Amino acid sequence: MLAGSGKHALDILAEAGDLDGKVVWDVTNPLDFSQGFPPSLTVANTDSLAEQLQRAHPSARVVKALNMVANAVMVDPSRLPGDSTLILCGDDADAKAQMTGVLEGFGWTDLGGLDGARGMESWLLLWTRLYGALGTGDFNLKLIR
Ligand SMILES: NC(=O)c1ccc[n+]([C@@H]2O[C@H](COP(=O)([O-])OP(=O)(O)OC[C@H]3O[C@@H](n4cnc5c(N)ncnc54)[C@H](OP(=O)(O)O)[C@@H]3O)[C@@H](O)[C@H]2O)c1
Repeated sequence: MLAGSGKHALDILAEAGDLDGKVVWDVTNPLDFSQGFPPSLTVANTDSLAEQLQRAHPSARVVKALNMVANAVMVDPSRLPGDSTLILCGDDADAKAQMTGVLEGFGWTDLGGLDGARGMESWLLLWTRLYGALGTGDFNLKLIR
């Protein structure tokens, strides 16, 4: 799992050694707090941090998952009443299948390829504002259709 600051994520992964064939579970967000709270994003719209990580390590299998919920919710989904939805994406189907095995307690939705991370990371623009408005990170998305 890559869970370092988004600002240093590329440097951190560069120090991880041989990632050939390994699943890199990317929970990072490209948050820029240089102008205070709420943060902006260092990359967005036509690219994402997850894609930058994948490009830097083409033989690794990057899966973006769990970046959209607070760490307390990540490890204990029962903090929220009822079911909620996790979103994940990645270019490698087997790697995503491994990830869904650890998402117990959540429903999940697969966005497809790793470029889905553009939307997942951009959610943080809204997540941080909801956090400010609600005063807690105990919330998540629930997809209803
Ligand atoms: N916290 C959450 O609820 C949450 C939820 C979803 C996603 N995320 C994402 O998960 C990541 C980690 O979140 P966090 O809240 O734990 O952030 P954080 O408190 O900023 O922790 C960042 C971690 O990165 C390490 N780090 C910073 N610069 C480094 C470098 N150059 N080389 C190696 N390690 C370095 C820090 O080590 P030191 O302690 O030694 O400085 C620290 O352990 C972030 O990308 C964040 O957006 C967090």
